[in-house]
Amino acid sequence: MTRTRIHNLSISLDGYATGERQTFDEPFGHAGHRLHEWMFATRFGASMFGRGSGTTGVDDAFAQQHEPGIGAEIMGAGKFGPPGWQDDADWKGWWGADPPFRTPTFVLTHRPRPPIEMEGGTTFHFLDATPAEALDVAREAAGGRDVRIGGGPTVVRDFLAAGLVDHMHLVQVPIVLGRGVRVWDGLEALEQDYRIEAISAPSGVTHLIFDRTPRK
Ligand SMILES: NC(=O)c1ccc[n+]([C@@H]2O[C@H](COP(=O)([O-])OP(=O)(O)OC[C@H]3O[C@@H](n4cnc5c(N)ncnc54)[C@H](OP(=O)(O)O)[C@@H]3O)[C@@H](O)[C@H]2O)c1
Repeated sequence: MTRTRIHNLSISLDGYATGERQTFDEPFGHAGHRLHEWMFATRFGASMFGRGSGTTGVDDAFAQQHEPGIGAEIMGAGKFGPPGWQDDADWKGWWGADPPFRTPTFVLTHRPRPPIEMEGGTTFHFLDATPAEALDVAREAAGGRDVRIGGGPTVVRDFLAAGLVDHMHLVQVPIVLGRGVRVWDGLEALEQDYRIEAISAPSGVTHLIFDRTPRK
């Protein structure tokens, strides 16, 4: 049975996974890079963003789980580009010619466009569909492997609310953002559907693993 997985979703202590006022120059709005400094420091982050060698401890061990067994990704329009990218016919995402997904990647948007084939195995497909419909399409494309829900927080929240997430790795970063887009709104008692483990890392972040338990 294939699973629907979330990895490396970084949230502040007050539950925000991105800041306010996302722009082309500030993809995370006023949060800057503070949500992801833990990842940039790891070997995983260093190789993804081309910066030095990176650490190989607890944070790296979790970060590396982003890749194995994934056959497709679903992301929101807010992750794919800054507000208004739909008006730019040439916008192909933040990641350059060779994006790090290397699978079919489904962008949920109310303004879909034809697919874009990138280098390295990533093809962006644009879907206006419910979470359940999008998951069916992504599963088909994933060829028996798992589907990753790549964010941002609005899409993560919608998939959690629909009961479609089997495994979630959250990284709670010890910062208070105060404003932005929160993950938890409307998800009261979500913890009752999951077995949850927390592991503190020397970097100061807490890794939270949610594994879905069968409904009673
Ligand atoms: N903290 C992390 O680890 C992490 C991870 C990934 C991304 N991010 C950040 O999160 C931010 C983006 O998150 P977000 O919550 O603003 O947006 P998002 O979840 O990426 O996308 C939400 C948007 O996707 C479209 N959409 C969602 N569901 C849809 C559906 N069922 N059918 C059609 N379209 C649908 C809508 O856009 P339209 O109506 O405009 O089409 C909606 O406004 C960015 O700043 C990104 O950098 C953070």
